[in-house]
Amino acid sequence: AALPALLCAMPKAELHIHIEGSLEPELIFALAQRNGVALPYASVEALRAAYAFTDLQSFLDIYYAGASVLLHEQDFYDMAWAYFERAKADNVVHAELFFDPQTHTARNVPMATVIHGLARACADAQAKLGVSSALILCFLRHLSEAEAFDTLEAALPFREHFIGVGLDSSERGHPPEKFARVFAKCRELGLKLVAHAGEEGPPAYIESALDVLHVQRIDHGVRSIESAELMHRLAASRMPLTVCPLSNVKLCVYGDMAEHQLPALLAAGLCATVNSDDPAYFGGYMNANFLATFNALPQLGAAEAYTLAANSFEASFVDDAMKKAWT
Ligand code: HPA
Ligand code: ZN
Repeated sequence: AALPALLCAMPKAELHIHIEGSLEPELIFALAQRNGVALPYASVEALRAAYAFTDLQSFLDIYYAGASVLLHEQDFYDMAWAYFERAKADNVVHAELFFDPQTHTARNVPMATVIHGLARACADAQAKLGVSSALILCFLRHLSEAEAFDTLEAALPFREHFIGVGLDSSERGHPPEKFARVFAKCRELGLKLVAHAGEEGPPAYIESALDVLHVQRIDHGVRSIESAELMHRLAASRMPLTVCPLSNVKLCVYGDMAEHQLPALLAAGLCATVNSDDPAYFGGYMNANFLATFNALPQLGAAEAYTLAANSFEASFVDDAMKKAWT
């Protein structure tokens, strides 16, 4: 009975949240009206009813449609501010937010509009809520590496506003090595490096994210469970995995939360963390993820709750003094 209260109350960091995936249907409709954007759904209810996904791509199609209402700096601010209020309520004290600039620049929204709106919300989250945060720019892997280079160049005038780069969107058929050169450039620039790997893609994609891209965290990574050798490597190196339990069930990576491999990852000594991914689409924010996971998996108790919170700070990109203060 005390476990749900502990899960909710414990301070935690969120390291895998696509800020465009925090757009709730109500805010999508409000922004559509404010901006005069037509939506292919008649109502909030009709939109929410479309959130029945069979795999990653079926989600991405709706996720990119939802993001089409974002046009002005204030829109990006409002989206991120709504997320920070939810994060605060879940006792998230630090959040590293992914954003997908190519989704917006493709609609002729300037890079400055995207980054300035998000960065202003991040500053207000610290000042008004005491939540620290950072931005991570993601390249869309279904697009070309040349387009990723163009995106990096467009973002570099705003270098002080983001700490690193990631790789998201359709995984299958778009292996990490497709982005070897642009990640090498980002590494030279001193950016932090992460990549989605082993969500739907095979364990080999996790290996190439490590060996070719030189990432410092793996986003998802749950398919590492299929390779004993890879599991040993991830455990020995304390390479963090940003696991997203509700996402994995909604996108049918697992048939049911009871089948989730988080307990096995922790038992093997991996630095696994719990995160929300796209909370407006997958059924909840951080505490909903913790509650659903611990409710379905009796192997998880207070010791694992503590480990997951400690892992979230260990895996974060904050400096060591901040990590000490939190753990
Ligand atoms: N996987 C890949 N791309 C994404 C995701 C995800 O879970 N969420 C938003 N973009
Ligand atoms: Zn993700």
